[in-house]
Amino acid sequence: MAVLVTGVGYIGSRLVVDLLEHGQEVVAIDNHFSTDAIALERLKQRAGFHFVHGDVGDRQVIQKALGLRPIEAVFSLAAQSSGHPQAADPRYTETTNLLAPRLLLDAMLAYGIETIVFASSLRVYGNALPSTVNAETPYGRFSDLSHLSKCYVEKLLEMYATLHGLRCLSLRLGVVHGVAPIMKTDYRFMTAPNKFCLQLVRGEPIQIYAAGHATTGYIHVADASAAMMAVARQSDLTGYAILDVFTEVTSAHAVAAQVAWIGRARGLRAEVMVEGAFPAEEPSPPARPALAGQQLEERNLMRHSLSEVMSYYQCASS
Ligand SMILES: NC(=O)c1ccc[n+]([C@@H]2O[C@H](COP(=O)([O-])OP(=O)(O)OC[C@H]3O[C@@H](n4cnc5c(N)ncnc54)[C@H](O)[C@@H]3O)[C@@H](O)[C@H]2O)c1
Repeated sequence: MAVLVTGVGYIGSRLVVDLLEHGQEVVAIDNHFSTDAIALERLKQRAGFHFVHGDVGDRQVIQKALGLRPIEAVFSLAAQSSGHPQAADPRYTETTNLLAPRLLLDAMLAYGIETIVFASSLRVYGNALPSTVNAETPYGRFSDLSHLSKCYVEKLLEMYATLHGLRCLSLRLGVVHGVAPIMKTDYRFMTAPNKFCLQLVRGEPIQIYAAGHATTGYIHVADASAAMMAVARQSDLTGYAILDVFTEVTSAHAVAAQVAWIGRARGLRAEVMVEGAFPAEEPSPPARPALAGQQLEERNLMRHSLSEVMSYYQCASS
């Protein structure tokens, strides 16, 4: 049996590679909205990978993908993932982020597929992460349609789990960082840690905003992918379940300080444009919450990952 991955972008590309390396056949859908065709070329050469170019909001595209191989689980990552005001027309965000997940769930019922793993976001709690989070923590405030849409899809998953007995697992991912098979260079579709590294490599000031003081959860792309694969296999997770997935808690300000520190050590000019106070000294490492039962790789922590991302962009631009 194969799995379906919708959205082969930054996180999806890492997930696809990890699934293939575990011997899993993968069918994937992407419409090249924020990932261009060239970036996907190398992945398309891999054995066991079947790519459908098309819109996940189009029922026929979903049917085409589900008809390619018998599918045992769906990983739903296709989304207009950016909160940037110029990322997309609001209608596009609504069609992709609200309509498409419903079409996907209906298709799962028609094809007898029971499990869906959804890439939700810690931002459902608002900009800052509350000191404790669990299934009872209420949704926070929103400032963009992309993150707001995660609440709708979570309630949709809950409804399909209750009404139809589907296994609907929502992973609330922290801000993802690190080097993945597909790396973005368009700031609108980049997460803060990777964007700060690219700004520094390009000799531009690192730009952070007042809201960058807020602390939230962060996770390496490899750990995000591993978590998605692990929950799909975890047989005691049935019905609708939500899981918070992050390994470190810090703020965009502290991440920018870390990036500037690493850049200066490499002889790069590191200017930080920030609203509000900014730490002048080497930042202390971010707090790291204990993740039950999860073995964390030291090299996936932010201080190593930022160095890798910076090296990646230095290499790519030379
Ligand atoms: N990156 C993060 O820090 C983070 C954190 C929490 C949650 N998430 C969620 O994880 C998922 C993946 O995020 P990412 O960072 O890899 O984003 P990304 O933009 O790199 O990947 C999304 C992919 O979906 C594709 N896509 C967009 N609209 C589509 C459509 N209508 N039909 C088919 N494909 C479409 C894009 O071309 C892109 O390749 C998203 O749902 C995002 O909201 C990301």
